[in-house]
Amino acid sequence: MNTKLIFASLALGCASSLMAQEHVMTIETKKAGADIAKTMYGVFFEDINYAADGGLYGELVKNRSFEFPQSLMGWQTFGNVKLKNDGPFERCPHYVVLSDAGHKERRTGLQNEGYFGIGVLKGEDYRFTVWAKAANGTSKIRVQLIDQSTMEERQDFVSSTLDITSADWKKYELILKSPKTDNNANLRIFLDSKNAVALEHISLFPVNTFKNRENGMRRDLGQALADVHPGVLRFPGGCIVEGETLENRYQWKNTIGPVENRPLNRNRWEFTFDHRYFPDYFQSYGLGFFEYFQLAEDIGAEPLPVLNVGMVCQYQNWNDPKAHVALDKLQPYIQDCLDLIEFANGDTTTVWGRKRAEMGHPAPFNMKYLAVGNEQWENLYFERLKPFVKAIKARYPHIQLIGTSGPDSEGEAFEHGWKAMTELKADLVDEHFYRNEKWFLSHGLRYENYNRKGPKVFAGEYACHGDGKKWNHYETSLYEAAFMTDLERNADIVRMATYAPLFAHIDGWQWRPDMMWYDNVRMFKTVSYYVQQMYAQNRGTNVLPLLMNGKPVAGQEGQDGLFASAVTDRNDGTVVVKVINTSDKTQNVTLSLKGMKQASQAVTTTLTCTDMDAENTLDTPDRIVPLKGTAAVAAAQKGKTACSTLSDTLPAKTFRVYRIKK
Ligand code: AHR
Repeated sequence: MNTKLIFASLALGCASSLMAQEHVMTIETKKAGADIAKTMYGVFFEDINYAADGGLYGELVKNRSFEFPQSLMGWQTFGNVKLKNDGPFERCPHYVVLSDAGHKERRTGLQNEGYFGIGVLKGEDYRFTVWAKAANGTSKIRVQLIDQSTMEERQDFVSSTLDITSADWKKYELILKSPKTDNNANLRIFLDSKNAVALEHISLFPVNTFKNRENGMRRDLGQALADVHPGVLRFPGGCIVEGETLENRYQWKNTIGPVENRPLNRNRWEFTFDHRYFPDYFQSYGLGFFEYFQLAEDIGAEPLPVLNVGMVCQYQNWNDPKAHVALDKLQPYIQDCLDLIEFANGDTTTVWGRKRAEMGHPAPFNMKYLAVGNEQWENLYFERLKPFVKAIKARYPHIQLIGTSGPDSEGEAFEHGWKAMTELKADLVDEHFYRNEKWFLSHGLRYENYNRKGPKVFAGEYACHGDGKKWNHYETSLYEAAFMTDLERNADIVRMATYAPLFAHIDGWQWRPDMMWYDNVRMFKTVSYYVQQMYAQNRGTNVLPLLMNGKPVAGQEGQDGLFASAVTDRNDGTVVVKVINTSDKTQNVTLSLKGMKQASQAVTTTLTCTDMDAENTLDTPDRIVPLKGTAAVAAAQKGKTACSTLSDTLPAKTFRVYRIKK
């Protein structure tokens, strides 16, 4: 903090008398403007980069139901193992039978490699469950965790036996306590008796999940998600909603009910990029729509599901009309939307509301938003969306419907999309922009001139993709912060914004940048994570007018590289100002808080770094983190107007949030 400047400002009073080279942000603290939606800063979860299976979803066993097309993918078998397909779960019929290997020295069993290994933490309990039946109603298995990391240590470090006591299918459970942390263990199961045993849905789950839910989320990732304070959670895609063929589109009805009977889906990100090909990437749907609604509730975010509009991915089926659902065959897709609303909100006497209650949540989830279609464009989309809007609005007029303006941030298809969404009376339009540094720095006024009479804006996917540097380095995150001042200043029309994508496994990613990265035991938050968090935790309730050096807002490229926005929290009168210095020089910034008296101190949160290529990593997760501080605020009186002044020296390439309490 530049104390000399603070005292100079104090002596001079309000903004008009400040030194010429200072940048003065004049904020009218008594003129609360547009309300800022609770949904303003949110996140987008898509099962890309092993975000669900192998990521947020707690399951540690890959191919637990033997339903992958290569039924034993992820498993090594030894001895006398047979695969069968007449198991107890109709939609997941495969299972294995372990029989005696023929000599007492020989073994029968199988071993699972997990997702890039199985991660366990020292002292934590892991719940092993299996559906099993035994020949003659009695058999025994041995369950072990195997160390894989060193040649010397390729042996079990936890071992326990489980008696199988019935000739009929039954679920069994045992708890394994891990004596050590291991990022790359395997799960091994031996037949430990003469009698054969049949095994199905073999699962290993941390007991200690986020919010202790049994079919729950990895605790550290769930907590990190909650700590963003996201206002909205978009799910499940993204292109995954569409699939590259209709066959592997996301079908929400397949993702609810008992996990043992949820059919497997091929994950379209398995093969999207040749250089990041993952032959074992499937969707178990263990993290399905029930778990999604519950997660949204657990983290205090509004759910925002996206459903298929009867179209496959347009990129991969370049406007081939035949690849999509015929216009007269859309009814099942429309019904999926209506049924999802009933599943989320219907009372327990309705068909789908009852299913929700049976899964353990009798109270409605109170879903308010539904997006239909993701990144679709032109008439193929518009003509399909029309009957959805009609049917959904007729039955559920209060559900806010979201259409898309396609994959481009501007241009002809984008304009057509907006026009069509306006004509169809969509409530919000989902815009996507993965653009470079230049784009983010030059769109500081993107929303100022948007038509205020049409649909609202949902910035549904965005991130700054560095030119030739598509990773999570500091510079791009800083420019995201600068761009976001425009979202905030235009909160009357921009009602939601969700950064994308959310999660990435360090060994299994297809797309970057992403908000959070992890291996099987550790995680780190990127600088973009902190940018989102700083906005979400300082959302405020209303926009405040802000003049930068007497001009209405920052220029298209900021003024002197400075970007700013201001909000107030009407509940307690707190004023929050966000300033981003994207320039290469330290800047003197003065906040002139008109109408604010009694303030004495601001709490500041600062993200700063001198190395633009620096990033957080698994080994250095805290290299760039927000730092707390304080700044003095001086009260002054200009004529009849009370005014507080805060003068600061903002380092080059820095994002600072000032919270000024009355
Ligand atoms: O976020 C990754 C992908 O980017 C999404 O699936 C898609 O909507 C966009 O093109």
